[in-house]
Amino acid sequence: MGIEVVVEGLTKSFGKQSIWRDVTLTLPAGEVSVMLGPSGTGKTVFLKSLIGLLKPEKGRVLINGVDMVNSPERDIYETRKLFGLMFQDGALFGSMSLFDNIAFPLREHTRKKESEIRRIVMERIEVVGLLGAEGKLPGEISGGMRKRAGLARALVLDPQIILCDEPDSGLDPVRTAYLSQLLIDLNAQIDATMLIVTHNLDIAATVPDNMGMLFRRELVTFGPREVLLTSEEPVVAQFLDGRREGPIGMSEEKDAATLAAEADAADAAAARPRTIVPQLEPSPGLPPRRAVARRRDRVMGMIDQLPPAARSAIRRTYAESAGAPTLPIPAAGSGT
Ligand SMILES: Nc1ncnc2c1ncn2[C@@H]1O[C@H](COP(=O)(O)OP(=O)(O)O)[C@@H](O)[C@H]1O
Ligand SMILES: [Mg+2]
Repeated sequence: MGIEVVVEGLTKSFGKQSIWRDVTLTLPAGEVSVMLGPSGTGKTVFLKSLIGLLKPEKGRVLINGVDMVNSPERDIYETRKLFGLMFQDGALFGSMSLFDNIAFPLREHTRKKESEIRRIVMERIEVVGLLGAEGKLPGEISGGMRKRAGLARALVLDPQIILCDEPDSGLDPVRTAYLSQLLIDLNAQIDATMLIVTHNLDIAATVPDNMGMLFRRELVTFGPREVLLTSEEPVVAQFLDGRREGPIGMSEEKDAATLAAEADAADAAAARPRTIVPQLEPSPGLPPRRAVARRRDRVMGMIDQLPPAARSAIRRTYAESAGAPTLPIPAAGSGT
């Protein structure tokens, strides 16, 4: 089962440039989380900090008792083996077949026999739906297939934590939908803790159990998907509605005059109700995601601390989920 990742007060800058400050969140074990944020807000820097490749100057990242920021380098190196990374560009070697690309981490980091390597690689190739393409070069296949090959490679060392950096970049909406389903199917099959960094709204709406957003050097919010999806926070609402009007500008920051000029338009758009679409389920034939029951207990345990809109959305989610026993909904003070 996946491992919990606890991030406490993480603060990172490069020289005088502050990237983000005081980021605190927990990736619950085996659940799927998404981190949203405009380009340049330090999402990739965040992923690299989780695996200890970049060193924030403050805070901790705790995994199985090891702090990926401050623990001895040897412990960090060992703990890094729990991770599977899917990079933004796929990062495949152009002159190697898909098979050799996917086998690479096994040949590099283990002493497994070639027969064992073949068995593992072919199994992962099947999981990501690339059977038959293993002999091809990266240049001979589509962008979507390259993404899936990158994912297969991230899986060969049996990761318990999977980080995906903008897995949708360069994919059309149909391929992105397939990828979303693949991520959920993967979670059902291996129960790993997953963090997906993206600015794709379809992935954000359909894939994660939890969601957060980085903006202006801060973590705007992080929690159950319903919290962000019902948020009235201007920056979150603008992002989710894909509007031009709001605090997010082309240059990331806007001046006060521009913001004021847009306020009216933004008010009009905010009046539009946002609907929460159901989270994707694993494909037929796959086991149910083990995280679902854990997540339900966890979220119901914290529901009283959540904003009213999120509370009622969560109650609706669980009341409607197929086969779930009806939840007792308090008659008074439920905020619904
Ligand atoms: N190794 C580095 N050294 C200095 N600055 C960096 C380094 N890596 C990233 N940055 C800066 O950090 C900021 C955030 O980058 P990044 O994490 O790539 O954003 P995102 O992934 O959200 O688009 C950018 O301004 C980038 O120039
Ligand atoms: Mg990035």
